Amino acid sequence: MEAVVAAKPVIKVAAICGSLRKGSYNRGLIRTALEISKESINGIEMEYIDISPLPMLDTDLEVDGKFPPVVEAFRHKILESDSILFASPEYNYSVTAPLKNAIDWASRPPNVWGDKAAAIVSAGGGSGGSRSHYHLRQIGIFIDLHFINKPEFYLNAFQPPAKFDGDGNLIDPASKDKMKDVLVALQAFTLRLKGKN
Ligand SMILES: Cc1cc2nc3c(=O)[nH]c(=O)nc-3n(C[C@H](O)[C@H](O)[C@H](O)COP(=O)(O)O)c2cc1C
Repeated sequence: MEAVVAAKPVIKVAAICGSLRKGSYNRGLIRTALEISKESINGIEMEYIDISPLPMLDTDLEVDGKFPPVVEAFRHKILESDSILFASPEYNYSVTAPLKNAIDWASRPPNVWGDKAAAIVSAGGGSGGSRSHYHLRQIGIFIDLHFINKPEFYLNAFQPPAKFDGDGNLIDPASKDKMKDVLVALQAFTLRLKGKN
């Protein structure tokens, strides 16, 4: 008799990039994550959420408990996701201003990040953006995001041989494997948090 393997419940992952740059390496990492989640992992539905339309946070823009429409739309995308993949470039040893802005908007009451699983990947200079991970993890404490601890993924984008092509697409096979490991860990942790494994 053949063993029946139960299909994994599908989780929704919101993928967010902290860089607004057209040729962003970090958005390249998200494109790779989208490709891997579609083609080689069962049970992940990933969507890229663009943070570039968000205005700079100003609580005067909140009127009668409502947010500007683009903020409402962003908050809704986060609310309906089970977990978050952050591609977090490092600016001056920390997270970027656009990413912090997006995080702050979605943290306004009611905080829509709460109880979700999250993972961080990054590409950058010497440290590969890794110092931004620790600031992002610290931010996560207050907004009740739960980050996977390992595997850690940070990539020096400037060290030869080239890891990205001219359009910011990841072309390094070893890094693609690492990305898959991160996504598998995020999926497992998300299901654990939801009590579905
Ligand atoms: C304002 C600014 C500050 C930066 N600070 C750092 C830094 O502290 N550490 C680092 O490794 N790279 C730093 N960089 C380099 C970025 O990590 C690098 O440009 C990276 O490619 C940005 O990500 P992106 O390709 O997704 O836009 C900085 C870049 C800018 C624009």
